[in-house]
Amino acid sequence: MKDIKDYHLLQHNTFGIDARCHRFLEYATVEEAQQVAAILRETSLPYIIIGGGSNLLLTKDYDGIVVHSAIKGISQHPTLRSRLICGSGEEWDDVVAFCVDHQCYGAENLSLIPGDVGASAVQNIGAYGVEVKDLITEVEAVEIATGKTRVFSCEECGYSYRQSRFKKEWKNRYLITQVTYQLQTTFEPHLDYGNIRTELERKGIAQPTAQQLRQVIIDIRQAKLPDPKVMGNAGSFFMNPIVAKEKYEQLAAQYEGMPHYTVDADHEKIPAGWMIDQCGWKGKSMGRAGVHDKQALVLVNRGGATGLEIVELCKVIQRDVKEKFDIEIFPEVNII
Ligand code: EPU
Repeated sequence: MKDIKDYHLLQHNTFGIDARCHRFLEYATVEEAQQVAAILRETSLPYIIIGGGSNLLLTKDYDGIVVHSAIKGISQHPTLRSRLICGSGEEWDDVVAFCVDHQCYGAENLSLIPGDVGASAVQNIGAYGVEVKDLITEVEAVEIATGKTRVFSCEECGYSYRQSRFKKEWKNRYLITQVTYQLQTTFEPHLDYGNIRTELERKGIAQPTAQQLRQVIIDIRQAKLPDPKVMGNAGSFFMNPIVAKEKYEQLAAQYEGMPHYTVDADHEKIPAGWMIDQCGWKGKSMGRAGVHDKQALVLVNRGGATGLEIVELCKVIQRDVKEKFDIEIFPEVNII
């Protein structure tokens, strides 16, 4: 187990904020997770559990304990080869690459999403019409209060758009150790979202292989989303708001061709990136914090920004979107 005092978190957040924490605990096995749980039970300090730090905005030094999983391993179930058992500290995209290499299908559209396996199960990561909840069968975790291991079915995790019980009533109660994903044995590509088909056509691919689809998704993402190694960011900064159908209809009448996704008979999701773009924020900056020039949903650190500068920009954007559309948008990123 790693147990380090006064630890720099620069390598643990893709926004590239140089904050420190009082103590850093990292577990690499279930037993170590149980040791971490025992420490957390005894301490009076606050704690946060982080994954790859790709959804995290640090606004100050953290006067508490930061917990991180380093449990490795991606393996196929001994008899069900399309079932993958993955350590919570593995990188999510390595899981997708493994799937494509081992004829396990259904994860291609989730290629290149930054972050760890554990976080995939907390955040219900999603992209291009697929959410990870469609693949998760079980989540294993150590309960901090008891040190006992628990296994949750996908249903028990209560998934919805970018939500799970781990983010709500179970927040800070479990240390995720392992996630099991059920992939498909036959390749049935999801090509209907956004510009996937256009990209395939551009490349002259009529019927993509899983590898080709993965590559197209990677290309689309790389064209729109900044590389955190070059410019600090946490992917989508805001969640797409879900609004009542009446509200959507009122806006659609006003803004011809407004993009939207139907959630159910009574609700529509409006892309926050589109609204921020309409407010004129795309490519703009406030101090060293900025709005990405190719996707307005992404806030970026233009170099040396503090977390508070990014929060300030977030607030101004929230205010402008509220004023123009009468819709509240909320960060997807965890602000500490
Ligand atoms: N749009 C604009 N201007 C912008 C950005 C978007 O007009 O600056 C429009 C686009 O033209 C499109 C619509 O808004 O019509 C939606 O944009 P996009 O397809 O890029 O997706 P998104 O809704 O902005 C969501 C996810 C992304 C994911 C993409 C693709 C959330 C919060 N974000 O973004 O996830 O990659 O769909 O599936 O749901 C992430 O979570 O970090 C992330 C990148």
